[in-house]
Amino acid sequence: MTRLNGKTAVITGGATGIGRAAARRFIEEGAFVFIFGRRQALLDAAVADLGPNARAVKGSVSDLADLDRLYAAVKAERGSLDIVFANAGTGSPLALGQITPEHIDETFDTNVKGTIFTVQKALPLMGQGGSIILTGSSAGTTGAPAFSAYSASKAAVRNLARTWAEDLKGTGIRVNVLSPGATATELAKEALGEEGQKVFASMTPLQRMADPAEIGAAAAFLASSDSSFMTASEVAVDGGLAQL
Ligand SMILES: NC(=O)c1ccc[n+]([C@@H]2O[C@H](COP(=O)([O-])OP(=O)(O)OC[C@H]3O[C@@H](n4cnc5c(N)ncnc54)[C@H](OP(=O)(O)O)[C@@H]3O)[C@@H](O)[C@H]2O)c1
Repeated sequence: MTRLNGKTAVITGGATGIGRAAARRFIEEGAFVFIFGRRQALLDAAVADLGPNARAVKGSVSDLADLDRLYAAVKAERGSLDIVFANAGTGSPLALGQITPEHIDETFDTNVKGTIFTVQKALPLMGQGGSIILTGSSAGTTGAPAFSAYSASKAAVRNLARTWAEDLKGTGIRVNVLSPGATATELAKEALGEEGQKVFASMTPLQRMADPAEIGAAAAFLASSDSSFMTASEVAVDGGLAQL
């Protein structure tokens, strides 16, 4: 498919998991992709795998100067930007009674503040036909034991798209949320453990976790003009987990 021919995309958290699978899919569909994350070795490995239409910039979404460097690199090489997949995220369990200020700061600095400034700083490079995709989660809709900080941060992300669709009126830029259910990535392994992953798979009507490529395919749909009449929406790719 060539739905993204000539398009330029930024994918935060693009070196691993869902972001990496989306990067592969975007490139297969014709895009030029900048991935962004904090670990240089993983960025280097991803670019080597993704090929000549991938670039990497190292940095944190919670550091505004790092985001400035990211968009300076995009501007220098490509001039403008069509797609932002604000996908970097973090999450770990702490039950009510054990929650610490540091846990809240880390979760919200990455998932909420990071998403806000990833998008706000991209806007000067974007225009008509632009597509912004935010990674939410089924956890933003449902409750999950010990995941209150993470779930609340993803509920906040859901609202960002509703509000930004208003703020972006007249620009021709769309913004949507892509909400995965349990997906086989490092984050899921670390946050849920082996047993927790089995529990989530069994709670899911399709009786398994997602392959990251299944989330990447939905991201490509939201990035492309196939979703041209969608904005402020949430697309759940969760095997039915949060839909019953
Ligand atoms: N896997 C699931 O079951 C699941 C379900 C629903 C939603 N999600 C969401 O999907 C997104 C991707 O997660 P994943 O499952 O693909 O896990 P992952 O492989 O661990 O990906 C997370 C990515 O985010 C990057 N990242 C984290 N903090 C960052 C920061 N401050 N600045 C820049 N990059 C940062 C990480 O790279 P560095 O550490 O190198 O920076 C990593 O590449 C997250 O938003 C997550 O909440 C995942």
